[in-house]
Amino acid sequence: MICCGIESTAHTFGVGIVSDEGGKCNILANEKHSVSTKEGGLIPRELAQHHCKYALPVLKNALKKAKAKLEDIDLIAFSQGPGIGNALRVGAVAARSLALANEKPLLGVNHCVAHVEIGKALTGAKDPIVVYVSGANTQIIGYETGRYRVFGETLDIGLGNLLDSFGRKLGLGFPAGPVLDAMYFEKKKYVPLPYTVKGMDLAFSGLQTAAGQKIGKESKEDLAYSLLHNAFAMVTEVSERALAHTEKDELLLTGGVAASKALRKMLEKMCNARSCKFFVPPFGVCVDQAAMIAWLGIVEFRAGNRMQVEESGIDPRQRTDAIEVNWLG
Ligand code: FE2
Repeated sequence: MICCGIESTAHTFGVGIVSDEGGKCNILANEKHSVSTKEGGLIPRELAQHHCKYALPVLKNALKKAKAKLEDIDLIAFSQGPGIGNALRVGAVAARSLALANEKPLLGVNHCVAHVEIGKALTGAKDPIVVYVSGANTQIIGYETGRYRVFGETLDIGLGNLLDSFGRKLGLGFPAGPVLDAMYFEKKKYVPLPYTVKGMDLAFSGLQTAAGQKIGKESKEDLAYSLLHNAFAMVTEVSERALAHTEKDELLLTGGVAASKALRKMLEKMCNARSCKFFVPPFGVCVDQAAMIAWLGIVEFRAGNRMQVEESGIDPRQRTDAIEVNWLG
């Protein structure tokens, strides 16, 4: 079957067209347009305006790229949550309109679970602990008894958010991650900064404040190294404990921060030490995009999941572990 997926949880409006021919995830198109800002954060109203403006052009591009017509599509899927309400609503309205006008089934799916499922489909990981690190999200996830459980997560800001806000204070552009990552490898010394792991959860705001206060007193490279080192070591510690607890032997890294060589290196070293396989999907699939929404749509539809238009309301706070995973045995 062929599914058209729509992603609109935050800065990206995307349309992905995916088929499951041969039992595989075949991405026929994965088009998107994202909001970018020189300074300041994302403003919900402006995200909605951006998504309204780009919805139709992105859809048309995706259909053209996939060499498909709306009649060829068997299912319309969209991100139901979690995300920014104003942004989510645009994708949901677009999906409902497409489904109703073309008499196609409609399925709202969870954005975080979509990251996990496309990561597995494209890397061959079977039952991994998933490290999902993006601007807004930081979760250590694994499948246990019918759901993707969140073994650990941030208690305040997302890891990507930490990097971008610190980069802004250093006067770096957005996204700051790649520049900070390069600086990580140019350090001369470690500057002591907070390291906050609470049980299996993480908190980054103390680290953010303390590093900000040392700007001008220490070199930028040393501060970038120390901030990244602590933040990534916190993520690695919790991931290792999740692996040890569940006795899983695969780790899958995804989300925008998966681009970081420093983070990959640290996680890979931990995995090697415990004979665990380490997977990272192609970067274009780690970030927010709609092929993952289309793929999860197919996976859920094949498992028998159906949704009426009346049930398709957005859920900005929808949790990863609220989704009943009835497609895995
Ligand atoms: Fe995401």
